[in-house]
Amino acid sequence: MDAVEFNEKVMKGHFRKIYPEIARQVINRTGVITGRCIDLGGGPGMLGISIAKITMLRVTVVDLMQECVELVRQNSLEEGYGHRVDAMQGVAEELPFEDRSIDLVVSRGSIFFWENQQQGLAEVFRVLRPGGWAFIGGGFGTLELLREVEQLRANDPEWSRKRKERMTKNPPEHYRALLKRLGITGTVEHEEAGTWIIFSKPEEVKP
Ligand SMILES: C[S@@+](CC[C@H](N)C(=O)[O-])C[C@H]1O[C@@H](n2cnc3c(N)ncnc32)[C@H](O)[C@@H]1O
Repeated sequence: MDAVEFNEKVMKGHFRKIYPEIARQVINRTGVITGRCIDLGGGPGMLGISIAKITMLRVTVVDLMQECVELVRQNSLEEGYGHRVDAMQGVAEELPFEDRSIDLVVSRGSIFFWENQQQGLAEVFRVLRPGGWAFIGGGFGTLELLREVEQLRANDPEWSRKRKERMTKNPPEHYRALLKRLGITGTVEHEEAGTWIIFSKPEEVKP
């Protein structure tokens, strides 16, 4: 399936309901509603657009595929958020943003594919403003939504197998070890509906 087909069949089809739910959870948890947000490895941008809808954040979707940049533009215009959601090609391991320039980094379903997860997380920490938040991982929002998606994809056993394989290769201890190595204080929350790395960059101590 190419990115265009994936956008139509999966992101805007089977997965449609998960993005607003994940966006709600991210904002409830982090409280970030203004400033700049990156949706990292955001694909066609459905999570980023859902975040823009419930906040005043200016969202940039970053993805390694140029095809996705075009899809984000289409999707954000279709949803009426073209003025607050843009997109650029880039990789997690070398984020095209200045130090301390971003208030919120979200990323769903992408870290499993990063060539260098440790470098990607270090980059996320670098670009966050003091007091900014990161919410990175993969999931379906709730167990009910996961079950719905599983039913919709029941004719594709490969999907379920690959998802479980990714979870086994990337257990929560693996992410906890990465955070420890980077000296980042954060939590890794794991349940059947998803695994999320959540951290906030400490506010700078004034001299
Ligand atoms: C499974 S898709 C998830 C897309 C979207 N976040 C969602 O949940 O609908 C994974 C995305 O991560 C992107 N990706 C993979 N490795 C990346 C990297 N190192 N940096 C940025 N994006 C990456 C892929 O191009 C793809 O669009």
